[in-house]
Amino acid sequence: MTNHFKQNFVTQKAEVHLPDVPLTGTIPDWLNGTLIRCGPGQFEQAHASYKHWFDGLSMPHRYTFNNGRLSFQNRFLQSQAYLKDNATGTINYRGVFVDPRRTFWDKIKALFINDVTDNCNIQTVDDQGTIVIMTELPHMYQLDPISLQTVAKYEYDHKINATMQTAHPQIDPNKGNLIVNYMLKISLFNYYEVFNVRGRAYQRVSRVPVASPSYMHSFALTENYVILAEQPLKLPGYGRGVFALAFGNKPFLENFVWYGDQPTVFQVIDRNSGAVVTQAETDAFFVFHQLNAYEQNGEIFMDLAAYPNASVLPDFFLDRLRANTHIPHTPAQARRYRIPLGKPRRRIDGESLASINMELPRINYRYNTQPYRYGYGVSLYQDLPDFPNQLVKIDVVTGETAVWHHPMQYPSEPVFVPNPNATAEDDGIVLANVYDANTHASYLLVLDGQSFTQMARGDLNFRIPFDYHGWFYPGVV
Ligand SMILES: [Fe+2]
Repeated sequence: MTNHFKQNFVTQKAEVHLPDVPLTGTIPDWLNGTLIRCGPGQFEQAHASYKHWFDGLSMPHRYTFNNGRLSFQNRFLQSQAYLKDNATGTINYRGVFVDPRRTFWDKIKALFINDVTDNCNIQTVDDQGTIVIMTELPHMYQLDPISLQTVAKYEYDHKINATMQTAHPQIDPNKGNLIVNYMLKISLFNYYEVFNVRGRAYQRVSRVPVASPSYMHSFALTENYVILAEQPLKLPGYGRGVFALAFGNKPFLENFVWYGDQPTVFQVIDRNSGAVVTQAETDAFFVFHQLNAYEQNGEIFMDLAAYPNASVLPDFFLDRLRANTHIPHTPAQARRYRIPLGKPRRRIDGESLASINMELPRINYRYNTQPYRYGYGVSLYQDLPDFPNQLVKIDVVTGETAVWHHPMQYPSEPVFVPNPNATAEDDGIVLANVYDANTHASYLLVLDGQSFTQMARGDLNFRIPFDYHGWFYPGVV
């Protein structure tokens, strides 16, 4: 079947400011603030391609609601990678799935000077009022949330010396919006390190040695614990993977190998003592994103979007995404794992939370680390599973679902914005970019959180290539 969405994997180099985006429908009068979304805008240089969706050059964009009016702006991140690659027409830094041809001397130098890309294109986080844009390689930039100008490189007061970190730090609403994250250090002695950050102040929580490190895109947080889902997409052990990463020619993530006969292991780390207090294992699965996690009656409830294996990663190579005939996309399942606390390592099984597939899950973040009821995400329409082409809301208690689907409409990750005076968890709105494959333009969709039906839309007359993640900053206008 025809590939309807491939035109939105074309480079979009224009930078625009639209002070008055035409809005149809009505938006709630409490809606004031800025949604910053992150994703790629440029996929090629004159002499090279970034090859994979995850490596496109970062083009953050924002929608601002200010007293009933909507404005839009996009601007490329002025990273070293953006500047040097565009100046030379080539790729100069190692990315997730792309690697410049490195000489032996380059590889020796890289042992001392990190040569990975600073193309921060995944997500923004609010560090006590400073907006920071992140990738999963160890570089960050401060952004101006309205002009989207690149302010400066962003660093913690302690050099983290990471090989990778996640671009999905957790924000703890019960601890003054403390940032919690983990990083992976690959060297002669590999380890995971869990840390807290508040206003650049870095505090190590735990360091867990690991022989064969797992690739983990995110992790889960409860009031007292960090949970790493250590999936069997691993760097080969006994130094082989470390050596290949340093001296081979494969891009970063292609050095990790899927060991489907090994379990996925949950490592439960005490946020106070830093000790691994519980481990549990289950059949291998692959995960990018968590919905939520919380403690209840001596168990951790951990909800995530699970794939049977890591085959979703090659789904996102640009040549596949741009094929004339679409190639079916791998669906993920919203799944719950219940990890018994304080017990010896044991096997557990997951349970499906809903009958519909779901990825890029979001919740009402006020319920982060707490019992909750609703998740929102993108999904694949059953008759055309080409690329996420519908939005879903799931009730994790009853398994009920609500769907927003219209042919030829390809929505982004939905961001839930709570009503400041909410009386119910789903009292709020849901914001998503939608690429309309009929008109070849994007619009901002505003859904009612409770009925999951359209309240309003803002038409851009502009196209935003498919992005990854967004965050809403109330009051930032
Ligand atoms: Fe992500």
